[in-house]
Amino acid sequence: MKKIAVIGAGYVGLVTAACLAQKNNQVFVIERDLQKITSLLNGNVPFYEPGLEHIVASAIHTKHLVFVNNIAQALTEEPEIIFSCVGTPSQEDGVADLSYVWAAAAEIGKTLNKYALIVNKSTVPVGTGDRVRQVIQLELDRRASSVTFDVASNPEFLKEGDAVNDFLMPDRIIAGVDSEKAHHLLADLYYPFLSHGAPLVTMSIASAELTKYASNAMLATRISFMNQMALLADKLGADISDVKKGMALDKRIGWAFLNAGIGYGGSCFPKDIKALIHMGSSTGQRMTLVEEVEHVNDLQKQLFINQILTHYHNNIAGKKIGLWGLAFKPETDDIRCAPSIDVINKLLGQGAHITAYDPAATANMRALFKDTITFAQTADDVIKNADCLIILTEWQEFLHVDFEKFTVLKDNVVFDGRNCYTPEQLSHYGIKYVSVGRNTVTVNTTQSAHSSPTHATVSAMM
Ligand SMILES: NC(=O)c1ccc[n+]([C@@H]2O[C@H](COP(=O)([O-])OP(=O)(O)OC[C@H]3O[C@@H](n4cnc5c(N)ncnc54)[C@H](O)[C@@H]3O)[C@@H](O)[C@H]2O)c1
Repeated sequence: MKKIAVIGAGYVGLVTAACLAQKNNQVFVIERDLQKITSLLNGNVPFYEPGLEHIVASAIHTKHLVFVNNIAQALTEEPEIIFSCVGTPSQEDGVADLSYVWAAAAEIGKTLNKYALIVNKSTVPVGTGDRVRQVIQLELDRRASSVTFDVASNPEFLKEGDAVNDFLMPDRIIAGVDSEKAHHLLADLYYPFLSHGAPLVTMSIASAELTKYASNAMLATRISFMNQMALLADKLGADISDVKKGMALDKRIGWAFLNAGIGYGGSCFPKDIKALIHMGSSTGQRMTLVEEVEHVNDLQKQLFINQILTHYHNNIAGKKIGLWGLAFKPETDDIRCAPSIDVINKLLGQGAHITAYDPAATANMRALFKDTITFAQTADDVIKNADCLIILTEWQEFLHVDFEKFTVLKDNVVFDGRNCYTPEQLSHYGIKYVSVGRNTVTVNTTQSAHSSPTHATVSAMM
């Protein structure tokens, strides 16, 4: 059993803390937002993450998980390892805002009284580990302390929506270290998480920091690649979903992150792509490919919105628009940089009335848009009085619908930013279906809607 401190009870910090506590470590979580702590102590995880509430509740019950609201208090417990899981949002200019990272490091330096390994789990630009070391050392020097410490980089790869499984059964754990002691501490801590054969990959701190950005950039590149390919498919009368299937069955390519759609969003890809572009330009190595990934993604949202406006001859004032899906992806309530925000802003700006439904993200969206849009209790309520439907998140409950329902839409049209269905399926019901990369596909209306392979069956293979 190790004593661990985790700074930040957000998506990464809370999952990290809860999973480490589940493996019998004593974990002190430092969260400065008192509302979050109160909510957690009342048994409520302040965000939607399947499976997390249960682990948090039982770890609180066994006292393996303890919440405090300042770093000094946690350090009196003399943790051996301190994880920094604070946010690293984008500044206006796209550079990663590291103010929370520096503040946490300074607080550690002010109160560290015994050796500890300080581990950056946040996604941070290369060189941050060294700076963290300097900030801590400066504070130790100020109080003439001779306490020693190590710094390590251990970037997190969990996916919101499946974060607990990802943490408990990682594909790999990256340990960026520059001392044997740091390596041993991380190897020991993570040993119980590697029993399924995943490796602990040890490297320098700089390489670990860059590995996280490179991984996210690769995934975002696949999405933008498919989105640009989808534009070409529309021009040429091809179906991007069939193209994807044909590509993905090649083992060298695989299925993941090849869905054409309205583009990526979320709390990571947009900001990490921006930060990587800046890291490149600040070192004189322009990341031209990554710049294009971002450009294609921005354009993709615009093009999707344009399809809606073009359908209505640029006049959507007064239209009653139904919206399914607000979260940036299924199984999360996270709306940070969700494409739905761009779509809603544009449509509201043009005078449309929006009624939206999301299984998890309604509260977050309501905080953002207040009463400028209507929030429905169910997906069916959205359709009842709508002129058209827009789908922006591929939640399971949207994938398996009775298409007959769509026939109540007054303008008989569904705009699908996630390619949830096939053109054949909706054509069978006389619904116009605007999707991504399949808009000029010739629909064979004699074919049974139920005999065609659905997007759902294809994505189930991913
Ligand atoms: N969310 C993801 O899916 C994900 C996945 C992998 C990596 N990351 C990276 O992990 C980092 C954290 O992301 P997140 O989504 O968990 O952020 P978050 O905003 O959900 O959580 C950060 C938390 O840290 C707290 N905090 C900030 N400074 C603090 C301090 N000095 N003391 C105590 N608490 C403090 C905040 O109040 C907040 O609750 C980011 O760098 C992100 O890029 C996120």
